[in-house]
Amino acid sequence: YMSNIIIKKIWNLKDFQTTPEHIFKSRRQALQNLAGGSIALAGLTSFPSSVFGNANSFYPPVSNTLYKVNREITEEKLATTYTNFYEFGSSKNIWRRAALLKTKPWMLTIDGLVKKPVTIDISDLLKKVGGIEERVYRFRCVEAWSMTVPWSGFALKNILSFVEPKASAKFLRFETFFDPDVAPGQKQNWYPWPYVEGITIDEAKNDLSFLATGIYGKELPNQNGAPLRLVLPWKYGFKSIKSIVKISFVDKKPQGMWERIAPLEYGFWANVNPNVPHPRWSQSTEQQLGVDNRVPTMIYNGYGSEVASMYKTLQPTLKNSLFR
Ligand code: MTE
Repeated sequence: YMSNIIIKKIWNLKDFQTTPEHIFKSRRQALQNLAGGSIALAGLTSFPSSVFGNANSFYPPVSNTLYKVNREITEEKLATTYTNFYEFGSSKNIWRRAALLKTKPWMLTIDGLVKKPVTIDISDLLKKVGGIEERVYRFRCVEAWSMTVPWSGFALKNILSFVEPKASAKFLRFETFFDPDVAPGQKQNWYPWPYVEGITIDEAKNDLSFLATGIYGKELPNQNGAPLRLVLPWKYGFKSIKSIVKISFVDKKPQGMWERIAPLEYGFWANVNPNVPHPRWSQSTEQQLGVDNRVPTMIYNGYGSEVASMYKTLQPTLKNSLFR
């Protein structure tokens, strides 16, 4: 699992580290031109014109200027090809394979401890939550790479207002699609598929918690989790579950897929914390995609003023609870 991939990925990163960006870019462009020559890829380089019916009316989104970041935006090609999506395998070609996933139509079920459970098509969901906005967030993977990207979508808390959680609802459990015929990684049955993640209801109500439908002003390409993925910028990236089919309101803490596989490495809280190393590597610095020098990692990935208050009760065991 993640360990093997990390080694490969960090090795791949050397390209970005050692090559000036314009050279890197033109090399990448050359590769792309090559790839573009094949019929199989021709359709992939132009991402689906519309994932949701007449969803083009939602794009381009209005930028929410409250969410800006003092970092350069990652080059779009890097953020959309250097991706983790284990359902499609662990090679560098995941983004190509992910294109086979059909994301239209796409039904999302919201159930569990809510007064108004619903199964709804994504385009109807977008109308219900009042459309989308753009936010620029930092994003820090547990593998110690990071990116800064403009997401399109809406605040997760917007769905709470129309499903009306009961008082007994304490956590949200998110689930990714399960379709091994399309996603060959799901044939590897040592992973406890489907991909699952969970957060507390307080975390869901936090202004930063975001459900993304797009990136770089366009609909999400499949490899980034189309048509709907979670984005929690103060937590390690594995919490930001992709291609969601179900959100359940529950009273018990859900166990995420990675937590189930390796509980000492990928815990429930997974708040970014440079002071607590992953058991197998340091978290003190990060490699921004496309940037030469590593930079220090920030506690809560720099979002402490917005989120730290949620973890006050965890302070006595700060070390473990922020990471595990
Ligand atoms: N969601 C699903 N369903 N499957 C995955 O493999 N990988 C996670 C997360 N969400 C993953 C997922 C990890 S480890 C990271 S770092 C982010 O997605 C990567 O998001 P990105 O590829 O859009 O950068």
